[in-house]
Amino acid sequence: MKEKLTSLNLSKWIVESGQSEVLSEFPQNRFSDPDSEPKVLGLIPSRKIVPEDKIDFPTNINSTETASMASNLAELRELMIKYDGCSLKNTAMNIVFGDGDEKSDVMLIGEAPGADEDREGIPFVGLSGKLLNKMLNSIGLLRSEVYITNIIPWRPPGNRQPTLQETAACLPFIQRHIELINPKVLILVGGTASKTLLVRKDGIMRLRGRWFDYQKNDKTIIPALSIFHPAFLLRSPAQKVNAWKDLLAIRSRLKNL
Ligand code: URA
Repeated sequence: MKEKLTSLNLSKWIVESGQSEVLSEFPQNRFSDPDSEPKVLGLIPSRKIVPEDKIDFPTNINSTETASMASNLAELRELMIKYDGCSLKNTAMNIVFGDGDEKSDVMLIGEAPGADEDREGIPFVGLSGKLLNKMLNSIGLLRSEVYITNIIPWRPPGNRQPTLQETAACLPFIQRHIELINPKVLILVGGTASKTLLVRKDGIMRLRGRWFDYQKNDKTIIPALSIFHPAFLLRSPAQKVNAWKDLLAIRSRLKNL
């Protein structure tokens, strides 16, 4: 039987379609309108890592020494191209080093290249990249104004998850990459980037939306926020409501830099 259009039925339909929380007094276009002025959420306090939450990455002395030799991005790229300690390099077509403004205050770090990125040698150019661009646009950022890279610079075969050994081999390179870009804010895109750089066992559901302290080798701190990976959002569009909250937190932080 056809249901009557009442405000109760309308509310039920909205909740069933995944919109279960009110974030703002006004409706907001979540990803596609860079000019809208969303209400800004308050700053979310940073959290410190406690020892029992930590992952133990095996230290890769070889890549640690190699990465420390780079005094600029061009040198880091060359050292990574010559580095033979990660077998993913043997199956990938290209190294996917980074893209965007090297002087940006905002650095985004994803997991690893997929097929499109491997073909072009540029991070986030496939379907998830297109959504990531829209997410950035929704808070008034252009892709060309931020810097984007990945934890792993070579595509894992079949887009499988990188192993702990592969991640440990690449970790010193991304750590040096962060030092050379020296952003004011890090955005960790998805679970792998978040767990690896925050050295935490928690999954993305627990990590997202909270500011953490990313500690550089010189012990200085960069505030880091984890967000859902756009590939996950493509599979789980109902989570866009939470992604939007996280984007607002980034926007608020950037306004207060
Ligand atoms: N997913 C990632 O994490 N990085 C890319 O570059 C592309 C897809």
